[in-house]
Amino acid sequence: MKVQGKHYRTIWLSEADDNVVQIIDQRQLPHKFVIEDLKTVEDVARAIKDMYVRGAGLIGATAGFGMYIAALKAPRESEQAFMDALAADGEKLIATRPTAVNLEWAVKRQFEAIKSGGGGVEAKIRIARDMAQTIADEDAEFCRRIGEHGQKIIEEISRQKGDDVVNVLTHCNAGWLAFVDYGTATAPIYAAHDKGLKVHVWVDETRPRNQGASLTAWELGQHGVPHTVIVDNVGGHLMQHGMVDLVITGTDRTTYTGDVANKIGTYLKALAAKDNNVPFYVGLPSSTFDWQIRDGVKEIPIENRDATEVKYIPGLLDGEIKSVLLTPEDTQAGNYAFDVTPARLVTGLITERGICQASEDGVLGLYPEKR
Ligand code: MRU
Repeated sequence: MKVQGKHYRTIWLSEADDNVVQIIDQRQLPHKFVIEDLKTVEDVARAIKDMYVRGAGLIGATAGFGMYIAALKAPRESEQAFMDALAADGEKLIATRPTAVNLEWAVKRQFEAIKSGGGGVEAKIRIARDMAQTIADEDAEFCRRIGEHGQKIIEEISRQKGDDVVNVLTHCNAGWLAFVDYGTATAPIYAAHDKGLKVHVWVDETRPRNQGASLTAWELGQHGVPHTVIVDNVGGHLMQHGMVDLVITGTDRTTYTGDVANKIGTYLKALAAKDNNVPFYVGLPSSTFDWQIRDGVKEIPIENRDATEVKYIPGLLDGEIKSVLLTPEDTQAGNYAFDVTPARLVTGLITERGICQASEDGVLGLYPEKR
């Protein structure tokens, strides 16, 4: 994706030193574009936990690069000591955030590749580097394909509306900033816009961390896509008045039965969409499926974050990013970061392999090898 005309991914190896991973510090967007170096496993864990990087795909890709850094730092005197250190660092990374399944998926994929690769420790480090790059490249490519498939939904609505503007509502940021490139919810929007279709996006601000207002609005703006930021409770009203043609969101974990965990507030949008016959689609790469669990509401772990994210709000003041207190100082606040939208409220899942129903048959029809 382009930032002021220059192509960026959200994570890459430093050109000057490929022992260093570079990321965009998303806590500072949209006000400042800051690139951060990650040199240790602790740096990587902090970047995920404190949300310098966030979004399911990017969390996974960061964990992939984190395992490469872990391999660089691990003791080299024996393969056993090397693998033990990697296992411990993998656990450290997995513990940073519980909901996005891509994190554990990437750590395990790396660990298995490194473990089964022969040729000694030096060869294993090269395997870790290659696998980190593969995970990142795959994420970008899968998102590009999600764009190709999802774009057809927008095209069909545009045709039905006689080429009038298609209004898409999205929640949180499932854009290129949440992945390595393109995004999931935004990929169909970018593809449709690039094809010349008229698209306008309603961007939920997404309290408490405002990923919609800060990140989605910024990246849509960089790409030239018309959009309007709304507060989180507006969506139902817009749908009642025919001002939303479809909803597309991302997801942090989707069961193979089609239940979708996504940023807190998504469930309420899905209920409103159902009540107003507005199609509700979810974009995801296969790395976001959880192939083990059936019941998303009961089984997906929901992250509970620090109350300060609810009580304080950051913004730009006199050129500096500052935080202000919103609530009485000693008020208790709850910060449930995700909710689960049951499959029955989801019109379809847009994956790298195509679009399917949010159901066990639909998902396994696209991924028969998981049966
Ligand atoms: O807490 P975050 O910002 O890591 O949450 C992730 C999200 O931005 C959303 O839930 C998103 O829609 C899914 S991640 C692709």
